[in-house]
Amino acid sequence: MPKKVVLSYSGGLDTSICIPLLKERYEYDQVITVAVDVGQSRSEIKEAEEKASKLSDKHYTLDAREEFVQDYLFPLIKANGDYEGYVLGTAITRPLIAKKVVDIANEEGADALAHGCTGKGNDQLRFDVVFRTTNLDVVAPLRDLDKTREWEIEYAINHDIPVPATKSKPWSIDENIWSRSIEGGMLDDPFYAQPEEIFRWTTAPEKAPDVAEVIEIGFEKGIPISLKGKKMDGFSLIEKLNKIGGKHGVGRSDIMEDRVLGLKMRESYEHPAATILLEAHRDLEKLVLTRAELKFKAMVDDMWGELAYQGLVDDPLMADLNAFIDKTQERVTGFVKARLFKGNSRVVARRSPNALSFEGSLNQKSAEGYSKFYGLQARIFQNLIKRF
Ligand code: ARG
Repeated sequence: MPKKVVLSYSGGLDTSICIPLLKERYEYDQVITVAVDVGQSRSEIKEAEEKASKLSDKHYTLDAREEFVQDYLFPLIKANGDYEGYVLGTAITRPLIAKKVVDIANEEGADALAHGCTGKGNDQLRFDVVFRTTNLDVVAPLRDLDKTREWEIEYAINHDIPVPATKSKPWSIDENIWSRSIEGGMLDDPFYAQPEEIFRWTTAPEKAPDVAEVIEIGFEKGIPISLKGKKMDGFSLIEKLNKIGGKHGVGRSDIMEDRVLGLKMRESYEHPAATILLEAHRDLEKLVLTRAELKFKAMVDDMWGELAYQGLVDDPLMADLNAFIDKTQERVTGFVKARLFKGNSRVVARRSPNALSFEGSLNQKSAEGYSKFYGLQARIFQNLIKRF
């Protein structure tokens, strides 16, 4: 029986060289590639298809855009999902991509599952944890080989694999509708400033329009449903917001990231829609949730982000957290206005039928009694209690 392996494929350098490696070094007879569409650029999907037609034995492109938005990004928005304060872009796609690859492996009756992750990053864990829910072999050629990116480029050239990465621009890029992450090469040095050329979605803030733009986003139960007064499906709304925000230079990050294994690595991201939507959503929550809810939810959100980053979305805790979050989101309905200007997005207005803001009149004199007890212990401690 010929041995079949299904490889999660992006068309990039890492996963492309995995195809000949799986045949040469692991003796698989058939390599089936699967590219999962989570909103990366159309050219990336096309490039993956073109390369696969030359390199692999069979290729699938699966459109998971709708599922990605509904089942992963909407819960993320409700949870104000971030990790150490930055965008959860790459992390949130991995469980979905891995599950799609497993589906194909089952359909194809494959012997093994493969990914192109190295042994340094988080993605190996995020893929493995899903792959290991099957009884198939799990293969990670680049983790096994432990080679440099320069070696990979060399290997690709020798195997006639076209690579966009060059030795002078060796960026490794991961893209989906929520974010674009860029790493590798000189960027590994935290003291090397991000060159302008790594950005594709965002205008440099100093070159952004001199006139600010105010946009209105509508939310229903924690989910964005309209932009500038127009109802839109989630994917189109995020896509459009990436364009508008990107034009104003919103959503660039340059951060030191603590990877799951403990490695501290520099990562660059761009994510205009994510920045705008998360700010807007957080702001609307502040209008409709109580102080106690906000405080408690911040802890829940933090744990949610941690699990998402680690790729542990199937831990039952994730569903537990989502149950709490969904309950709070029942009231997170309303409109938020954000002002976009030269790299910043700032909420300037918000309204909701569930607002808890106080607009009535009160008897201010009644507050005096409360105020008399206020800070009492400190006054006793300082021996300052004279008159009660
Ligand atoms: N460090 C990020 C994460 O673990 C992103 C990794 C993305 N990969 C890339 N080639 N840029 O989520």
